[in-house]
Amino acid sequence: FAEYEPIEGEGKINLKIDLDIPKVATMDEIEKGKKVYCRCWLSGTFPLCDGTHQKHNEATGDNVGPLIVSVKKD
Ligand code: FES
Repeated sequence: FAEYEPIEGEGKINLKIDLDIPKVATMDEIEKGKKVYCRCWLSGTFPLCDGTHQKHNEATGDNVGPLIVSVKKD
């Protein structure tokens, strides 16, 4: 694990996704094409990105963005 140091005064990252469970973990499989996964925890289509990170970045100066996974073409 990377070293983790909580920022004093800062709280949760996830403010809306499955708050009633202890850990949100997602497994997915892709066989073709690509999928775009949310890493900002703000997407309305979580775990997929819906572009909400752009509004967040504009409002806060942050630089978060999605994870894009694609199947390698032979
Ligand atoms: Fe979260 Fe795009 S909406 S990374």
